[in-house]
Amino acid sequence: MDDLREKYLSLIAGAGDEAALEDLRVQAVGKKGEVSLKMRELGKMTPEERQVAGPKLNALKDEINSALAAKKAALADAALDERLRTEWLDVTLPTRARRHGTIHPISQVTEEVTAIFAEMGFSVAEGPRIDTDWYNFDALNIPGHHPARAEMDTFYMHRAEGDNRPPHVLRTHTSPVQIRSMEAQGAPLRVICPGGVYRADYDQTHTPMFHQVEGLAVDKDISMANLKWVLEEFVKAFFEVDGGVELRFRASHFPFTEPSAEVDIRCSWEGGTLKVGEGDDWLEILGSGMVHPKVLQAGGIDPNEWQGFAFGMGIDRIAMLKYGIPDLRAFFDSDLRWLRHYGFSALDVPTLHGGLSR
Ligand code: PHE
Repeated sequence: MDDLREKYLSLIAGAGDEAALEDLRVQAVGKKGEVSLKMRELGKMTPEERQVAGPKLNALKDEINSALAAKKAALADAALDERLRTEWLDVTLPTRARRHGTIHPISQVTEEVTAIFAEMGFSVAEGPRIDTDWYNFDALNIPGHHPARAEMDTFYMHRAEGDNRPPHVLRTHTSPVQIRSMEAQGAPLRVICPGGVYRADYDQTHTPMFHQVEGLAVDKDISMANLKWVLEEFVKAFFEVDGGVELRFRASHFPFTEPSAEVDIRCSWEGGTLKVGEGDDWLEILGSGMVHPKVLQAGGIDPNEWQGFAFGMGIDRIAMLKYGIPDLRAFFDSDLRWLRHYGFSALDVPTLHGGLSR
């Protein structure tokens, strides 16, 4: 028994790591360990022998167990000392630069536009991008065989064979949200409806998916004069013009407005950069007009009692103009570096650019 004691105490003292200690524990005091086997032999001894050997074996077992525990603690201490000696941290080193995300210009411009119209009492309304052709066309006074349906290069949703419901389309403009807003809110009403729209078209200034913002105001005694004021205030705030801006209304045609006008703003392109409010050029920015009585009716509003104006413009287009981005396709299929090139940062927060002059 003394042999066992010496053997294990010296093996434990020499153990190099926790795994070796564990092996020793199993060898010595595990179920089939040497000490345990000896304990089993107690059964064959005479009572006198057992009285002597029993306590001795128990003491041995305790001694080995506490040697194991002590060694384990010593190994852990040594490991910690070693880590403290070899690992260190220079807290004066500069931090590693971290890449941060950026707000997409379309999102940013949408927020800018929203903030400007909010100042004038317009709230934001949204509608589905997949809509029925009734909302996208019929309700807007574009009946089945109207040429505007063909002009808009509409994406039609596939219908299964034998499914004769009227088709769904990817909305070609945000104007269907006019109808949904009138249905939901009734008159009077002041909303803008920003969002994605779709047309089968692709070149430097057209992508199959782009963004528009619709404006709709319905009230009593509303006229083109109100429309003009609202658009002037918007253009001044959006393009950050300190002085005045000049808008030109050109007679036009939309099925959903009567009369209709396309709106240009006076500008110059000197040195290739756009200056709004001065110069001899005109820049077309939107379509507009007085809401057609049939459209008010489709939205559940009595055209004998209420009038309204509406306008629609391309968010991508005004973003390109404001930030000098030459190719629309850059918005949707290029990498992030160009965003930085045009000065967009994650920290840009939309502002009113000096607010509205009233
Ligand atoms: N929906 C028209 C377009 O997509 C724009 C528009 C909106 C014109 C509202 C007049 C009034 O071209």
